[in-house]
Amino acid sequence: MPTQEHLTVTVKETRSEAAGVRSLVLAAREGGSLPAWTPGAHIDVVLSRDLVRQYSLSSGTEEAGWRIAVLREPDGRGGSAYLHDRVEAGDTLLVSAPRNNFALDLDTPRLVFVAGGIGITPILPMLAAAERAGGDWQLLYLGRSAESMAFAEELARYGDRVRLHRDDVSGLADLAAELDAMGAAQAHVYACGPSGLLAAVQEYADAHPTSRLTLERFAAAPEGHARDGDRPFTVETADGQEVEVEAGQSIVDALTLAGVRTLTSCREGVCGTCETPVLGGNPDHRDQLLSEEERAAGDVMMICVSRCQGDRLVLDA
Ligand code: FES
Repeated sequence: MPTQEHLTVTVKETRSEAAGVRSLVLAAREGGSLPAWTPGAHIDVVLSRDLVRQYSLSSGTEEAGWRIAVLREPDGRGGSAYLHDRVEAGDTLLVSAPRNNFALDLDTPRLVFVAGGIGITPILPMLAAAERAGGDWQLLYLGRSAESMAFAEELARYGDRVRLHRDDVSGLADLAAELDAMGAAQAHVYACGPSGLLAAVQEYADAHPTSRLTLERFAAAPEGHARDGDRPFTVETADGQEVEVEAGQSIVDALTLAGVRTLTSCREGVCGTCETPVLGGNPDHRDQLLSEEERAAGDVMMICVSRCQGDRLVLDA
């Protein structure tokens, strides 16, 4: 649930950006200012005690407000419908400070960005930063139709650095050909979008070892996180409570059943909301966020998917 890192912001403006996409500009409350952030960052929006959603910041880093864009998800748990239908200018929202799992490295000779659908949102401030830095960059932005592609007008200022691909006009994209045409084989590629698109970009990067790839995922990779041979183990909480985690159960579910409150969102190891300090034991990391160094340090873990190497973990939960 909300922590000291959360802050209350005011919705300054709302706008329809494309079919099913609504943007909200969030501002600091009177006299306050919003924390600094870097391109690629996202915030948590706390919608209820157990409903938290992540949204990438899509405004310019120098702008006074934070813009998020919300895709209506008819099959979701109601978070996007609430932000579409119930929230208006003047309302307040509880949000986290920005976190960045998709940081931009401008110290690279060529940048290629790939965005699918709503995946354009974290990319927008990255383009602005690359442009300001005088970088050599191009964007491939893919969508089903013009109506579904948010912010296409904003991208017009970048001219032919931006390649728009509409399925209804050109059919499914030949992604490898598009990436070749943008020089992606020799570039640092940043991609955000549906899992099928990210898998295709990953396949391209695997076939071109001279490229570098950074992905922003909205959902876990298809192979998932559960494994044959997963064993039960014990979690000890900061106040000494012992909780058994069954073989087919997540730490989050076991703690919740035991009455220990946790904060989660994606439950797939891709958002970072459930990051928890490790006080003892060796985590078996299965998230898609921590770097090799962070895994080796073993100081924190994502308790929605990660498990224990051994019989016991002590968590600051
Ligand atoms: S809830 Fe998203 S990483 Fe655990």
